[in-house]
Amino acid sequence: MKKNYIKTEFEALPQNQGFARAVVSAYAAAKDPTVEELTEIKTAVSEAVSNAIIHGYEKKGKGRILMEMEELEPDKLLIRITDYGIGISDVKRAMEPLFSGLPEEEMSGMGFTVMESFMDKVLVEAKPGEGTVVTLIKCLDTYYDL
Ligand SMILES: Nc1ncnc2c1ncn2[C@@H]1O[C@H](COP(=O)(O)OP(=O)(O)O)[C@@H](O)[C@H]1O
Ligand SMILES: [Mg+2]
Repeated sequence: MKKNYIKTEFEALPQNQGFARAVVSAYAAAKDPTVEELTEIKTAVSEAVSNAIIHGYEKKGKGRILMEMEELEPDKLLIRITDYGIGISDVKRAMEPLFSGLPEEEMSGMGFTVMESFMDKVLVEAKPGEGTVVTLIKCLDTYYDL
């Protein structure tokens, strides 16, 4: 079966968080996921995209976000979110629960923790001044090849 690879690129604007959720939802829905799996995928993608908008591009609303979706195996999805913003100097520290680079109370510092608990694998590659690439991998429990 031919593997389905899709990419979409959008502006780092807050309303595009909803767009990203809808797109990944439509992509994953073809795999017949459970409601729970779909919610987990959408939530993890939301966290990664909001991080790109808020942290990567510092809420300036300028910059592009690339979202790629790919099936590694029929029941294994890869979603990659790339921004070309400020990057992260210490990825390990940034991924620690409760760590947040911003002092504001609205920041929970739980974004990466949420991604890690909902996905099977989370890979973060970042270079200061060049951007951040977040790769999310999700294995679906039930997959029926129709
Ligand atoms: N795309 C990104 N670009 C730059 N920095 C990021 C990015 N994603 C995450 N970070 C850094 O990692 C920290 C932790 O992210 P997260 O766990 O989502 O918590 P929060 O977003 O609530 O701060 C952020 O505060 C920020 O410093
Ligand atoms: Mg976050």
